[in-house]
Amino acid sequence: MSSYLTRRTLLAVIATLALGLVPATAQDARRGYVPAARDAVRAVAAEHGMVVAQEKISAQVGADILRRGGNAVDAAVATGFAMAVTYPRAGNIGGGGFMVIHSADRNEDITIDYRETAPAATTPQIFLGPDGKPDVTKSRDSALGIGVPGTVAGLALALEKYGSGRFTLTQLLEPAIALARDGFVVSDDLADTLPSWHRRLARWPSSAKIFSRPDGTPLVQGDRLVQADLAATLSAVAAQGPRGFYEGPVAEQLAKAVTDAGGIMTPADLKTYQAVIRAPVRGTYRGYDIVSMPLPSSGGVVLVETLNILEGFQLADLKQGSAASLHLLIEAMKRAYADRARYLGDPAFVKAPIETLTAKDYAAKLRAGISTDRATPSKELVSAATTPREGSNTTHFSVVDGRGNAVSNTYTLNFSYGVGLVADGTGVLLNNELDDFTAAVGASNAYGLVGFEANLPGPGKRPLSSMSPTIVLRDGKPVLVTGSPGGSRIISTVLQVIVNVLDYRMDVAAAVATPRLHHQWLPDEVRVESGFPSDVLGELKAMGHVIVEPMGQTSANSILVTSSGPLGAADPRTRGAEASGQ
Ligand code: DON
Repeated sequence: MSSYLTRRTLLAVIATLALGLVPATAQDARRGYVPAARDAVRAVAAEHGMVVAQEKISAQVGADILRRGGNAVDAAVATGFAMAVTYPRAGNIGGGGFMVIHSADRNEDITIDYRETAPAATTPQIFLGPDGKPDVTKSRDSALGIGVPGTVAGLALALEKYGSGRFTLTQLLEPAIALARDGFVVSDDLADTLPSWHRRLARWPSSAKIFSRPDGTPLVQGDRLVQADLAATLSAVAAQGPRGFYEGPVAEQLAKAVTDAGGIMTPADLKTYQAVIRAPVRGTYRGYDIVSMPLPSSGGVVLVETLNILEGFQLADLKQGSAASLHLLIEAMKRAYADRARYLGDPAFVKAPIETLTAKDYAAKLRAGISTDRATPSKELVSAATTPREGSNTTHFSVVDGRGNAVSNTYTLNFSYGVGLVADGTGVLLNNELDDFTAAVGASNAYGLVGFEANLPGPGKRPLSSMSPTIVLRDGKPVLVTGSPGGSRIISTVLQVIVNVLDYRMDVAAAVATPRLHHQWLPDEVRVESGFPSDVLGELKAMGHVIVEPMGQTSANSILVTSSGPLGAADPRTRGAEASGQ
């Protein structure tokens, strides 16, 4: 197996060299910028299809569907449901997300918006305290922060419209149901994160009983995680379709659990939930087409705006990871994130100037304001104030099949394990997504992202997101499938993977592994991962950048499509991610 893979990897590398999609020299990817732990990362080659996901059992579930003749959407749906079982900190049916699909079968690029909605009783003041100021415990730590989950509707819609027709929803749910019913062995990232998040889960007995050992301590590596109620809920969906989740006993239990915990979600909120098919945000970058997520995600708009700004600079002439190159990335990020704060929100509620923000001439104006040797202070871009905070978790997986279809999917409970509440009797772990609203004009969410009127809470409204599942095409065919968790850092992560592959021709594994940085306009600071050489950071400081370590976690599970097959890059930043090919 491994010698087969080695041979396939070599073939694929030769093929990508021919495509021009590999670093001019392999050292480009490694020259001092990759910390030792990430140094040995290699892309996994496959002949036909590939699933790269944050948890290996679920990646294999998807790859198995590809092997059995499913298309990328079939595989994504199976992986998405399986991760709701095996990766409970972000894989979910109690949260929401976004899927970008390149359907070669239908010659179409499309997105599925299954973002959570605010319950009908939501008011713009819902997250304010008695003093009229934002009370973050309401949106982050209480049941008021729970949005109506969208994942079941979203995955079912994707399958109905873009599946191959070879698999029913019931068939694709089978692996998830078996994993929940029979359990699986706790390992990798689950074992790493449960100890620190267990106290949050244990606030509710319904959660504690699932994630604890008999003595009440968190499950540890090697224990078995069985989720019988979750198996029953997934079985209800298998039997009745989304109605098994959004109506009847499961919906009633979900609403009861939320209201018992002090929230306001009703069975009617669940019954009226709709996933939405939306046209993607499109852009071009150096001859490639960028297909990404539209509002209510800010991801596609900010990504395209940033790439448009950068297109006017010859990045490839500047060394990857050099201060000169990083400075331009930072300046482009800053400007696009400032526009995010000012203009973006749920398109059902606000009219955002998307055409302007994604236009090349608008980018040219912004570019003209960039000095190549001095950081522009954020307050010169637009004035506002914020207090930042680091936050944590979401998950991204990328899928391609042998027929030219591609799926880029990011979904989340917002924080790791969401609000921590498992709705009793359902096994469904619920989100705290409504913290992504702006609690008051000028306030910021858990990721320090400032917002204004466009993103205030409202009934039925979807909070603005940063999730940026993205597909890069050349001549109508997928070249790169990428995306990431990481709250505000998602968009800058996707940007850097794209720049590393398209400008710097890095091998996809190195493009993903190499250290990243992040600027989001406010606070006016550059967050950096470990691994940047001190002289580079020194040069950035000399230009006026405020450098702050660490940068919160991201994980860009990506696929590069080459003429000899896909190359999968599982992000090495956390344990457990896997590229599973066939
Ligand atoms: O939708 C968003 O932008 C956030 N709720 C995503 C949260 C996230 O990525 C957390 N992961 N580190």
